[in-house]
Amino acid sequence: MTKSMTNMNTTLNYSYPLNQTSQIITESIPGPKSKKLRAIEDNLLAPGLQGFALMAGIVVDHALGSTITDIDGNRFLDIIGGIGVGGIGHSHPQYIKALSEQLNKAVIGSFTSEVRVKLLELINEHKAHPDLNRVQFYSSGAEAVESALRLAKNYTGKWEFVSCWGGFHGKTSGALSLMGSDFKDSYGPFAPGAHLIPYANCFRCPFNLQDKGYPEGCGLYCVEYARKQLKMQKSKGIAAFIIEPMQGTAGNVIPPNEYMKAIADLASEFEALLIVDEMISGFGRTGKYYGHMHSQIRPDIITVGKQFAGGFPLSAIISSKEITSAKPWSNPSGSSSSYGGNPLAMAASLAALQIIDQDNLVENSRLMGEYFLSKIKDYPTRFPSFIGEVHGKGLFMGIEFVDSSNNSKKTLRSPQLPLPPLAKDKCKIIFDEFLKRGLLTMSYTSSFRIQPAMTIDKETIDNIVNIMDEVFLKFHSHNIP
Ligand SMILES: Cc1ncc(COP(=O)(O)O)c(C=O)c1O
Repeated sequence: MTKSMTNMNTTLNYSYPLNQTSQIITESIPGPKSKKLRAIEDNLLAPGLQGFALMAGIVVDHALGSTITDIDGNRFLDIIGGIGVGGIGHSHPQYIKALSEQLNKAVIGSFTSEVRVKLLELINEHKAHPDLNRVQFYSSGAEAVESALRLAKNYTGKWEFVSCWGGFHGKTSGALSLMGSDFKDSYGPFAPGAHLIPYANCFRCPFNLQDKGYPEGCGLYCVEYARKQLKMQKSKGIAAFIIEPMQGTAGNVIPPNEYMKAIADLASEFEALLIVDEMISGFGRTGKYYGHMHSQIRPDIITVGKQFAGGFPLSAIISSKEITSAKPWSNPSGSSSSYGGNPLAMAASLAALQIIDQDNLVENSRLMGEYFLSKIKDYPTRFPSFIGEVHGKGLFMGIEFVDSSNNSKKTLRSPQLPLPPLAKDKCKIIFDEFLKRGLLTMSYTSSFRIQPAMTIDKETIDNIVNIMDEVFLKFHSHNIP
């Protein structure tokens, strides 16, 4: 099944399974073996697991490329990818080899290792800007974000932060203060000096200017509003703006390129650092090595994670020599952590980033993203009863489910309000129909996020889109449930 060949679709060379399909062999999903193990786990594991894992109910046996096989023998096509963790797909042979070899050498500790030096050199080869040549390693995204906030405070001597509506930077205390959703509601009080500004989510424009068209109609009013708001609200000064170049959790939202440029200008106007959170948009996911490269801005600090190490828990911050010299962050043990930079994590990341280079996965992400989008971009016209928008950059895509039967929110003042989001119970029906056909998705909420492995090929995309077409057609014709 695994072939080493030239992918005729893309002229990219990679050793990977192509034309992958789903195969459902049990009468219902989850199958009997999965149900049995889940019942044991449900009595022992604390609640709160990621929604799609809870809802799918399958127990994973093994995974390869863009597929996951459960212990009942059902094979699923996976377009979740651990929510952007699985850039190189499941079980890439080179990745397995690198991790196995490192396991036999050394695993623990933060001493310098050859593999860490090689990784630092490779990250440096891809540096976003000439002076962004210092890296510090952590385990989770939130941990890297917290470190970036500490560093920004040390470097600037200021302590206020700006983040965005819809933004997500993790679930630790500092990151929660910057979260742009009501997920955080019960966790206050939050860090003082946290300012939230609107994000250019143009489909759901915060100012309902979506029909005026960007940029002539709205003139990036969201940034102008942010400027005024911050002038009124800040006290002694802002240490940093933190922003996702494209928002993942909010629905794989893609702002106009000019928005990021305007935010970068705003940050320098306030003499604040710009932290670009590339956790989900980094390493080719959006068709460029880093997501902010679509906007030609220069961040001061970049936070990375997820597909940075092909599934191994690893995150990092990348910044300049000058900024990372700030104290006490730069003192011995000042920016370190127990697992930061350990040899096993370094081997995982080195293998993942080498695979991304060797297999031309940044380019494959761009090409396959274009192909995938071309196959689904007419969904709003084909299925207007519940699809409002389809968007994507590289293999970072989203579909907005809307409720066309509930248009009561239109008012005289805002006649152009977009349709309300589709209710969760309706989205869950779509999720279950995909699952039955062997497609693992995040379609259980109205902002349906799609981020398949960057190793995906055209035929596998065709197989995925066939399932999507079938389910959407049924849902549109009210044949479900
Ligand atoms: C943009 C962004 N930042 C930070 C995080 C937090 O990462 P982690 O879950 O590894 O703490 C996430 C996770 O989804 C994310 O998407």
